[in-house]
Amino acid sequence: MTVALVTGATQGLGLALVEGLAQRLTPADTVYLTGRDINKITEAVQSMPGGGAEVRGEVLDVADPGAAAKLAAQLEERHGGIDVVFGNAVMRVGPDDDPRDVVNAYTEVNNFGTTRLLRAFTPILNDSGSLIVVASTLGTLHHLAPVLHNRFTTPSTLDEMDAQVARWRDEVKDGRAKSGAWPGFVNIPSKIGQVAAVRVLARERRESDLARGILLASVCPGMINTPTSALWWDVSTAPTPAQAATALLDLALSPLDPAQYGELVRHGEVLPFS
Ligand SMILES: NC(=O)c1ccc[n+]([C@@H]2O[C@H](COP(=O)([O-])OP(=O)(O)OC[C@H]3O[C@@H](n4cnc5c(N)ncnc54)[C@H](OP(=O)(O)O)[C@@H]3O)[C@@H](O)[C@H]2O)c1
Repeated sequence: MTVALVTGATQGLGLALVEGLAQRLTPADTVYLTGRDINKITEAVQSMPGGGAEVRGEVLDVADPGAAAKLAAQLEERHGGIDVVFGNAVMRVGPDDDPRDVVNAYTEVNNFGTTRLLRAFTPILNDSGSLIVVASTLGTLHHLAPVLHNRFTTPSTLDEMDAQVARWRDEVKDGRAKSGAWPGFVNIPSKIGQVAAVRVLARERRESDLARGILLASVCPGMINTPTSALWWDVSTAPTPAQAATALLDLALSPLDPAQYGELVRHGEVLPFS
């Protein structure tokens, strides 16, 4: 029996990941479709075409500090562990949003939501399982001024990584980031923070995870035609969420390739972090 979970699954890529997992798994398996709003979750579960695995809805607001740990404990009690986790949730921001106004909520969802998910779900991963954080090609140090690289390369624990992200958040909030070397697009440091968090935890867990066939990685889905990306770019010809989900599902459900462990992966290839 396989148990899978996707965060931010009420629309976009997350919804496509749930549908793809359900199609690739069997009626003995369970896929948890999670989100922050029970009505949207219910609607999304009802929209599933049926066949394959059972799709169950659960509330998981990743910005809620205790939520990931609580749900992980419940699922461990219910199933004994978990096989596939996608950390996919993202807060939607647009070009008209002032970074100073949104960065607090943005980091709570995208960054601290990710590190809480990592802390809660990696301990209950079953052998041959995978936990994949959906990041972006923007999540590499090539997109950041060299003077800032050590913010994301020196932390050696998730707590230290959270502290660095909080430091950046505070610099955005009080305007120091704008006058410094930080990019104006909050997505860039946020995605680098996600990828760096995965790298930090992977360093700790590498030996035991590889021995058990577990993959911990971040992934770049490429440009996708969703309302979030449409706020920034013309994505009318970009892949649909279902098309973009294919490579991510292949990664999660294939036997472990140790070369991908802890790395940012795009279409099966490792993207160098620095
Ligand atoms: N779209 C692209 O071109 C692109 C490119 C590179 C990377 N990505 C990454 O791919 C992932 C999915 O992107 P997308 O375009 O599919 O996004 P999307 O369509 O905006 O969907 C985002 C999902 O996250 C959920 N969410 C927001 N806040 C949440 C919270 N506090 N707790 C739980 N869920 C929450 C949303 O729920 P509601 O329905 O309640 O709003 C929604 O289900 C993101 O990590 C994004 O950064 C996307």
